[in-house]
Amino acid sequence: MLVNMAMTADGKIATANRAVSSFGSARDHEHLLELRTTADAVMAGARTVDSNPINLGPGPARFRRQRLKRGLAEYNLRVIVSGSGSINPRAEVFKHRFSPIIILTSQRMSASSRRRLRPLVDEIKICGQREINFRFAVRWLREQWGVKRLLCEGGGELNDALFRAGLVDELHLTVCPRIFGGRGAPTIVDGLGAASLPATTLLSLKSARRVGDEMFLVHTVAPRGT
Ligand SMILES: NC(=O)c1ccc[n+]([C@@H]2O[C@H](COP(=O)([O-])OP(=O)(O)OC[C@H]3O[C@@H](n4cnc5c(N)ncnc54)[C@H](OP(=O)(O)O)[C@@H]3O)[C@@H](O)[C@H]2O)c1
Repeated sequence: MLVNMAMTADGKIATANRAVSSFGSARDHEHLLELRTTADAVMAGARTVDSNPINLGPGPARFRRQRLKRGLAEYNLRVIVSGSGSINPRAEVFKHRFSPIIILTSQRMSASSRRRLRPLVDEIKICGQREINFRFAVRWLREQWGVKRLLCEGGGELNDALFRAGLVDELHLTVCPRIFGGRGAPTIVDGLGAASLPATTLLSLKSARRVGDEMFLVHTVAPRGT
């Protein structure tokens, strides 16, 4: 699994009031679409999906052609994580029906949320009682939907669960030349975080490329216990 994020030089992915969350260059947006051409599915958390006008799709025809050349479906599958079903049914993503949308949730999702969301998506999968079991979810996505390469695009809460579960293989990070500040501003990995050094995620820098004032970093995640 890959995680792709753009962050400010102080590690933020949005301002504290969440008003600004798109701040990368046109090159960074191109990079996001290029990565999507390599993935069977693109995944994001409920707050990322319902606070941005995004559709999680492959974008213009030239990117779809790259997918076909790679032997992938023209349109990637879309996966939204919403443990309580709080996602807004009027989110932009639901207005585009070019490929299946799957919601990963838990038994905390109420019957009324399920009724509201069911007509908008292709499947709602319960992957745990209170917490989502992402190991189970990833296996299920592979077996039921043929997802071999999964690209996660945040936000920080979802990323944290994926890193803690040891499911991330590679982190693509664009460091943008801005400082947002703000104690409450989300970062690339929020949630619970690690409680001790052995529980932290160790990275190895695979590549670093400067384009203008942005740095495009690729880290591989070291196996646990190294
Ligand atoms: N700069 C970037 O590259 C970038 C990328 C992505 C997002 N962003 C920004 O980051 C902010 C969103 O980040 P965020 O961390 O607040 O939200 P997030 O991770 O996108 O979404 C959080 C929601 O997703 C669900 N979720 C996430 N992890 C879960 C888990 N382990 N188990 C069950 N449900 C889980 C929950 O939905 P329920 O409440 O329904 O349970 C939770 O409330 C937005 O401002 C967004 O625009 C920036």
